[in-house]
Amino acid sequence: MDEKGRLMVPAPIRRSIAGNLIVLTRGIDRCLWLFPPEEWKEVSTKVVGSSSLFLARDRMIQRRFLAPAQEIEIDRSGRIAISPTLRHYAGLHKDCIVLGIINSYVEEAVVDRLRPPRPSSTFVDVTLGEAGHAAAMLDRYPDILLLGSDADSALLARSRKRLHAYAGRCRLRQAWSDEVLGGLAPGTADLILMDLGMCRFHIERSARGFSFLRDEPLDMRFDPRHGVSAADLINRSSRSDLCDLLTRYGGDRNARANAQAIERARERQPIETTYQLSRAILARTPWRGGSHHPATQVFQALRVAVNDEVGRLRRSLDAAAGALRAGGRLAVIAFHSIDDGIVKRYPAENAHVAALTKRPEVPSDAEVQTNPASRSARLRVLERVP
Ligand SMILES: C[S@@+](CC[C@H](N)C(=O)[O-])C[C@H]1O[C@@H](n2cnc3c(N)ncnc32)[C@H](O)[C@@H]1O
Repeated sequence: MDEKGRLMVPAPIRRSIAGNLIVLTRGIDRCLWLFPPEEWKEVSTKVVGSSSLFLARDRMIQRRFLAPAQEIEIDRSGRIAISPTLRHYAGLHKDCIVLGIINSYVEEAVVDRLRPPRPSSTFVDVTLGEAGHAAAMLDRYPDILLLGSDADSALLARSRKRLHAYAGRCRLRQAWSDEVLGGLAPGTADLILMDLGMCRFHIERSARGFSFLRDEPLDMRFDPRHGVSAADLINRSSRSDLCDLLTRYGGDRNARANAQAIERARERQPIETTYQLSRAILARTPWRGGSHHPATQVFQALRVAVNDEVGRLRRSLDAAAGALRAGGRLAVIAFHSIDDGIVKRYPAENAHVAALTKRPEVPSDAEVQTNPASRSARLRVLERVP
């Protein structure tokens, strides 16, 4: 910290923030806590929602934790100015320690394994999402160029904002992975990333029905301008097609019973929302608590089908193998066994690629504990052979 009370925020922490604002507040044990603004909104809403005006302990938490929170701008040199009151509380003078709560282990593995093979390498990220990986790559390798894309325009807009500082090195567009990779001239990409599936944004903010825990219209399309929504799919498919879809894309062991439950429910009225669908499933298979909700596989299968995720993965692998330069690398993060199996078997089906990971890289135990959604992530890296 300098003599004006400005603290240098380490680069990995800055990378995890979209934009240049960060929330600083008083923590416990005479520490200060930093949050990305969106995470702070969630944390503070939870704290307010679960506290009572009548409990002294809750009032104290509000006074000590919420009241001192300030949104602070990170300046061009990566510093934040800390108020004298907070500096005094934490006893900060010159030397400070900034501890980060784990970045993703799998993200670090991607960045380590996608080392640029030559100056000004082209890195193609076809599943930009919130641009976490893209920002980490641009930060670690200062001369790579990014071709970034996502099927979802909302995510693309968020990525664009987050990658603002690297704008001169990025070309971004809304498109599906197979279209982007299929459009590249052979042998022109050095590094490619596919981080499959959905983002937290889809569950928490899209309002497109990706989760059975929120009452929303049942849509599930990454690109809602085209194709068939999940509601249309389940209302129009025959029972046997539904059963097939739930088995194939969800690995649903109750596929027959669940297809029958859906058919019964839609006879009464079309299923238009997430709650209608999960009620239909629960009528047949009650939830006995625990982490596995009976509708989990049904929701996964519908999302995979609506976005043609399996077909697109196969086409994207072929296109990526064609687009890579000899020695170029493709990293794929899969979140369910269907996708992971396809990537695992791919080198046996295409003589132009070799697997660099005999076993997939998986998240650390600590990461799974703090971010349970990461538990099924599997990273495999393939290399283009001449
Ligand atoms: C798991 S998230 C990626 C997270 C991202 N790597 C990050 O660091 O923030 C997957 C993203 O890819 C998009 N997506 C999934 N499959 C896609 C595909 N086949 N083509 C294009 N975008 C896809 C989704 O819209 C979502 O935004």
